[in-house]
Amino acid sequence: MTECYLNGEFKPLAAASVSPMDRGFLFGDGVYEVVPVYSRKPFRLDEHLRRLQNSLDAIRLANPLTATEWHDIVSRLIAAAEWNDQSVYLQVTRGPMAVRNHAFPATVTPTVFGLVEPLVTPAAALREQGVTAISTADIRWLRCNVKATSLLANCLLRQMAFDAGCVETIMFRDGILSEGAASNIFVVKNGVLLAPQKNHLMLPGITYDIVLELAAQHGLKTEVRDITDAEVRAADELWLSSSTKEVLPIVEIDGKKVGAGGTAPAGSPGPVFKQMYGWYQDFKRTVMHGI
Ligand code: PDD
Repeated sequence: MTECYLNGEFKPLAAASVSPMDRGFLFGDGVYEVVPVYSRKPFRLDEHLRRLQNSLDAIRLANPLTATEWHDIVSRLIAAAEWNDQSVYLQVTRGPMAVRNHAFPATVTPTVFGLVEPLVTPAAALREQGVTAISTADIRWLRCNVKATSLLANCLLRQMAFDAGCVETIMFRDGILSEGAASNIFVVKNGVLLAPQKNHLMLPGITYDIVLELAAQHGLKTEVRDITDAEVRAADELWLSSSTKEVLPIVEIDGKKVGAGGTAPAGSPGPVFKQMYGWYQDFKRTVMHGI
């Protein structure tokens, strides 16, 4: 039975309920994190908790728990789950209100929720073949660095990809790459890894940081800067990254094969991706198992 955490109690998910007056429910007034867990060890938990703090600060909501309390909740959720590899979801909303009012209640009682699901990383076949994506204008707000639960635009964008038989929607704002509907996007051109710069137009991904750290460690040349629509379409390789998908090659965008004119066969994962994927798995093993 799935156990969850809700406002101080661990209980079966089916027994958990929140008020319909919760601002998370009525306004999407909350923030969240998704933490991958490998072999029952949370991966980069402190970094996720730091980003949660940044999101809470951005929405002017005091963190209801200390770092130790967050660690305890995550540990207990992990221990109670039946799977070794898990995805821990943490959410804080601005809690219930007596009457529906956009302005904050005078006294805020945040709703704190934690849930564990099995971590389903992409199957080897998907990684070996790569995935397809579509692109569109970034229709979201201007504070995409906040990991807010108000994800309507992201849901519509992801569904667009799904409807087109694709895995992700890549977004551009004024001709500049921002990110995917639920992932960060990287470009490889002439052996150089290009990454969009962190700003208010994209979520500062924890996996994005790992990719850049690994690139630096292994001497892969990197440029962190604005990437144009034309550069994405002329990429030798395109990747997406997220906590649940890790790093995944995108081999087609808007029906056109990625990498035509590059060194690897177009429409298949490129050599730089294969290197990065290897580094990522080695890094995970080192962190998780100390080997
Ligand atoms: N989403 N950008 C967006 C819009 C995202 O929603 C995510 C992750 C990322 C990647 O961030 P990270 O590497 O820290 O997971 C980038 C999570 C997985 C989700 O909403 O389920």
